[in-house]
Amino acid sequence: MAESFDVIVIGAGPGGYVAAIRAAQLGFATACIDDWTNSEGKPAPGGTCTNVGCIPSKALLQSSDNFEHAGHGFAEHGIQVKDIAIDVERMLSRKDKVVRQNNDGILYLFKKNKIRFLHGVGSFAGGAPGTWQIKVSGPGAAELQTKNVIIATGSRPRALSGAPFDNERILDNEGALAIPDVPKRLGVVGAGVIGLEMGSVWRRLGADVTILEALPVFLGIADEQVASEAWKQFTRQGLKIELGVNITRVTRGDDVTVDYTDAGGKAQSAHFDKLIVSIGRVPYTGNLGADVVGLKLDERGFVSVDGDCRTNLPGVWAIGDVVRGPMLAHKAEDEGVAVAERIAGQHGHVDFNTVPWVIYTSPEIAWVGQTERDLKSAGVAYRSGSFPFSANGRARALGDTRGFVKFVADAKTDRILGMHAIGPMVSELIAEGVVAMEFGAASEDIARICHAHPSLTEAVREAALAVDKRTLNI
Ligand code: FAD
Ligand code: NAI
Repeated sequence: MAESFDVIVIGAGPGGYVAAIRAAQLGFATACIDDWTNSEGKPAPGGTCTNVGCIPSKALLQSSDNFEHAGHGFAEHGIQVKDIAIDVERMLSRKDKVVRQNNDGILYLFKKNKIRFLHGVGSFAGGAPGTWQIKVSGPGAAELQTKNVIIATGSRPRALSGAPFDNERILDNEGALAIPDVPKRLGVVGAGVIGLEMGSVWRRLGADVTILEALPVFLGIADEQVASEAWKQFTRQGLKIELGVNITRVTRGDDVTVDYTDAGGKAQSAHFDKLIVSIGRVPYTGNLGADVVGLKLDERGFVSVDGDCRTNLPGVWAIGDVVRGPMLAHKAEDEGVAVAERIAGQHGHVDFNTVPWVIYTSPEIAWVGQTERDLKSAGVAYRSGSFPFSANGRARALGDTRGFVKFVADAKTDRILGMHAIGPMVSELIAEGVVAMEFGAASEDIARICHAHPSLTEAVREAALAVDKRTLNI
């Protein structure tokens, strides 16, 4: 007889494993199924984020940042470092170790929360509302039954047409995180989040990096001033970014040839040792057995859900990259928590207006809420204020005064509508903007709160003061 659960989560990425923990905390008999297998054939829960996304990319960003500092940053502190070399194999094995620690951490959390973890592919085998039947194939083969299903099957990289990934020459995110030697000529298609982060990693390590972007504007999703500062910094670092390109052909031989027309319509041909293709991701529902139960997908392949992550099937929910909205780990996690709480009859809630974005380049880029462009096109009257890190004592002591913090606030009520930043540690500073917005704060509130000195957070306060044109330190 099929083992019975209250909640079965399919997928143990950040959305799925967090949903399973919250469901277990709420007292539900919970199972979580995930098919990710590591190079030793062992289960590796954590999904894209842990295995080939957030965590390994940040490990490599840190290693390459250390390398760049040792080569170019330490001298001004009077620290002499001679004969600096990068051992790529060791850097990659450190990254793999960090990934393993996270996989193990999730397995431990499953155990601690008494969640039944099954390693394998989970799919709908039939059933009806109240008794969905789920089949697991693979090492943890089983037949299960459940009242509620949470689909958290994530996303996969999108390939360029006519250029399938081989992870030798044409790399997806997994390949981009495992290049065994620093390539001499690295091409990147797509100047989005992965392109900029992975392009930065390999440029710091010595690759000649060219990024080819289809859109005529750089970082169109970010605040315009932030994007323009980022462009200045990245091109100064040596990243070559070409905008408005139209790739016509990719040919794989001893190297990779990319034929394209440039922004001026001129035919161009570029040769690379490796080509990272990072042109966005697509939802993944293969193997799920959506047809068996009539689960509705939208025209782009996402599981169709309402604002509360309900699918068309009673008791079946979907969260994370496999549904609409930004493809971010923390968005997936928050949806997972909210869905578990809704199943328990509580009022789980995700505020999509305050989901922060971070790009972990150097300088880092972070934002939350609306940009000036958004507000102008919505006809909202606003005031803005910004403050440069060049006038912040801690940034000077750190030796990193690039960038600024900016607030936009409603012209009438002063309620904060967005925070946009580029500079040192803005991945951490953005949390202040998120909290402020969640509490409905005005820029005046931030301006009146005591911030430690010397700290980068003072730039946040000064940007809030700047909304009212009363900065103190500039
Ligand atoms: P996933 O993490 O994709 O997990 C889905 C899991 O379900 C996988 O393990 C998959 O194998 C499994 N699965 C699928 N189908 C089945 C099935 N039928 N049965 C069993 N298991 C199944 N986001 C951030 O917020 N910050 C970052 O810094 C960041 N960096 C990134 C860097 C890179 C290179 C990439 C590619 C992505 C990055 N992201 C980042 C995005 C982030 O990884 C995703 O938004 C996040 O992983 C989505 O979580 P999820 O739980 O929806 O899906
Ligand atoms: P992306 O959507 O960030 O960027 C893709 C870029 O490729 C866009 O600028 C797009 O205009 C361009 N593009 C699309 N088709 C093209 C073509 N044919 N030729 C040239 N350029 C083309 O997608 P990316 O970088 O693949 O990342 C996927 C997602 O993963 C991100 O949107 C983000 O949600 C998530 N992610 C988040 C990170 C973070 O939070 N720090 C880090 C990395 C990924």
